[in-house]
Amino acid sequence: MKNLIDIKDLSIQEIEELIKVAQDIIKNKKKYSKKCNGKKLATLFFEPSTRTRLSFEAAMMELGGNVLGFSSASSSSTSKGESVSDTIRTVGCYADIIAMRHPKEGAPLVASIKSTVPIINAGDGGHNHPTQTLTDLLTIKCEKNRLDNLTIGLCGDLKFGRTVHSLITAMTKYKNIKFVLISPEELKVPEYIKKEVLEKNNIIWCETTDLEEYMQDLDILYMTRVQRERFNDEKEYLKLKDCYILTKNKLKKAKEDLCIMHPLPRVNEISKQVDDDKRACYFKQVEYGKYIRMALIMKLLNEQNDNNIDELKREKEEKIFDSIKCQNPRCITSENDDLEPIFILTDKEKQIYRCKYCETILKK
Ligand code: NCD
Repeated sequence: MKNLIDIKDLSIQEIEELIKVAQDIIKNKKKYSKKCNGKKLATLFFEPSTRTRLSFEAAMMELGGNVLGFSSASSSSTSKGESVSDTIRTVGCYADIIAMRHPKEGAPLVASIKSTVPIINAGDGGHNHPTQTLTDLLTIKCEKNRLDNLTIGLCGDLKFGRTVHSLITAMTKYKNIKFVLISPEELKVPEYIKKEVLEKNNIIWCETTDLEEYMQDLDILYMTRVQRERFNDEKEYLKLKDCYILTKNKLKKAKEDLCIMHPLPRVNEISKQVDDDKRACYFKQVEYGKYIRMALIMKLLNEQNDNNIDELKREKEEKIFDSIKCQNPRCITSENDDLEPIFILTDKEKQIYRCKYCETILKK
């Protein structure tokens, strides 16, 4: 594997290996302190971040490497009109590996096609966030001691919440996983996740607007904030922003060993009184994020020369349409006119296609 753009890029064995290495790092930190001596990680953050960027930087430092980068689009040449591809080609001359966050969905994929060094997607618009998912998987593994036989409640903004999309995709690789999708009507999980991920993998799932309805059944409760920056209409955000607030009272029926997670930042969807509850895992989750990113950086730097067989396989499914453009305004193709539109035929009979960059479904 050369890049990590989508959690689907990793096989279950590779995920397990990363988790094993991260667990070993937790136990034997010293052993890893020189693993990346002389290497440089660039963090290119075109969107705000606290945890993801700093955990990448801390991870590289703890491996003995160095870091460089920027933390906002306004402080980079993007503000002068430079394209993602040109920025990536430039940074590849300075760094051995790049972690990139971008508001446009599919931007890290475009970067990976142009890059000479490994690219890690650190969040693209409302689409994917694979390293948060690795963090979440390590958290679940350490806290529950298993990644199968779990009923997982995902609550909040399931439409724009990229961490939710990547987590659902990853968990379908494990046995006996059930999902309870808790959101207001306006913020339900996107169609492509339901069709291509949940239905294709025969996963048991249900949707509800009520946070407490299935509380007693949950092993994991994954809370998320309403993603203000993805709304076109501020009024719509204001209407939905307080749709769920987890309080001690709402946990009355919950299991004793429930694991409450949140990718953070929290706005007000988990009341501060819940922080003292032994089931609250969201600050531990932050720490796990650094260790799994250490494992990932080492893996990508070591495997740079391997061929990505999965990527070659995927190419075969692709179709290019010159005349059709993706309708998603957050798709990288909306910003970049030179980019060839690529759609993947997902249902021959119904003529359903999925944009390669942002995965929005297109019906012809
Ligand atoms: C998440 C993100 O950026 O998508 N944060 C993170 O990386 N830990 C969640 C969020 O911003 O709500």
